[in-house]
Amino acid sequence: MTKATSTAQDSSIPVIAAKRLERLLARDARIGIIGLGYVGLPLSLLFAEAGFRVTGFDIDEKKIADLEDGRSYIFRIPATEIEAARSKGFSATSDFANLVQQDAIILCVPTPLNAHHEPDLSYIKDTARAVAPWIQPGQLLILESTTYPGTTEDVLIPLLEAGARDGLKVQTAGTPAEEGVFYVAFSPEREDPGNTQIARSQIPKVVGGHEPIAAKLAAALYGGIVSRAVCVSSTRVAEMTKLLENIYRCVNIALVNELKILCMRMDIDIWEVIDAASTKPFGFHPFYPGPGLGGHCIPIDPFYLSWKAKEYDFRTRFIELAGEINEARPSTARACSSSACPTSAISTTFASRPRSPSSSSCAAKAPTSHTTIPIIQPLVEDVTITSTWSQRLSINSKNSIASSSPPTTPTTTTLTSSAAPS
Ligand SMILES: NC(=O)c1ccc[n+]([C@@H]2O[C@H](COP(=O)([O-])OP(=O)(O)OC[C@H]3O[C@@H](n4cnc5c(N)ncnc54)[C@H](O)[C@@H]3O)[C@@H](O)[C@H]2O)c1
Repeated sequence: MTKATSTAQDSSIPVIAAKRLERLLARDARIGIIGLGYVGLPLSLLFAEAGFRVTGFDIDEKKIADLEDGRSYIFRIPATEIEAARSKGFSATSDFANLVQQDAIILCVPTPLNAHHEPDLSYIKDTARAVAPWIQPGQLLILESTTYPGTTEDVLIPLLEAGARDGLKVQTAGTPAEEGVFYVAFSPEREDPGNTQIARSQIPKVVGGHEPIAAKLAAALYGGIVSRAVCVSSTRVAEMTKLLENIYRCVNIALVNELKILCMRMDIDIWEVIDAASTKPFGFHPFYPGPGLGGHCIPIDPFYLSWKAKEYDFRTRFIELAGEINEARPSTARACSSSACPTSAISTTFASRPRSPSSSSCAAKAPTSHTTIPIIQPLVEDVTITSTWSQRLSINSKNSIASSSPPTTPTTTTLTSSAAPS
């Protein structure tokens, strides 16, 4: 069979992929997005705004009805944005048969923890089973849900192949097939709700293909909505990248929360310390104490890695300690937020905290006034704080995913401790 040359790069790819690639590059491609929640809906709007023809898929009929009627169910997304997307062809459906028309399909379904605080991949598995019968040759499937390294290869792909019709298989590394294959990649989400400083399109997208053609297609796809797609060598690297990003925040939030308590006892203003340290132009990134954990993913995602690490006979002690400190944080902050406590400013978020115009100046300045906000809820509704991380992680150390009934998707609006949510 003839081979077409990619217009994106000079390497040769099979016709089966080249057709899709051309449509992606021309923004003429049809994009299906599965899971229209906090990640999937904004992503759908972004693709629609960029000119792609977008169809959203969800099992929640209420969400479908809202979107089809031009309503929004996410606070920060006004209905006008839904209407604008609809005027550009965006529609929503629960009928997965419509997947056959899509050039690329992106999965944005939840990845919570189960009752044992282990990864709950039931949403990914259910979605994979529902998608599989509709996969077409040359289609690109991308997982965006945050998860442990190996999920795409070991969980998603086998389910897709098992359910695909006509013996369709995923393209593997090596000689590209001319027919009978589809392509799979992983690309983590970097959603940052409420951030008005960085345009969504300016946040680079990390992409890991199962093999090079998938990476090329995925890079072309995201190149239509963000300034830069960062290709890494595998889906595992991309999966681990997301966990590193969130664990980095988790660990640093724990560090600053611990230092906050020490500073209180030593009668030192932690905010002043952080301001001063932030004047260092290299090697220091400020994190701020507070009751929140930096977004609802932050306390969950480290469990995914700690759980997976056990398979490799490795205990992630550093990460577990950070989790313990952060989980103790709401009660510490709650105790300190009483009016009797002179350190009630501990419940201040970074966002509400006035920043000094120039912290590099030694000129006298008025003490920073910290806006105190009430501490009211556990930070993640479905995480019951009953034991330490390490205890929980040893509850079921066998490397299997318990098939318990899926917990509810976290819906809590969390208070952030640091510069940006997950
Ligand atoms: N919310 C964030 O800020 C954020 C940021 C980065 C990464 N993530 C990750 O992205 C993923 C999605 O998170 P979210 O916050 O958008 O979740 P969400 O709960 O807001 O939305 C998930 C959607 O998926 C739908 N869904 C569930 N099972 C389905 C199925 N089988 N078929 C079709 N639809 C199905 C649900 O009805 C829901 O609308 C998670 O892995 C999360 O960790 C979230």
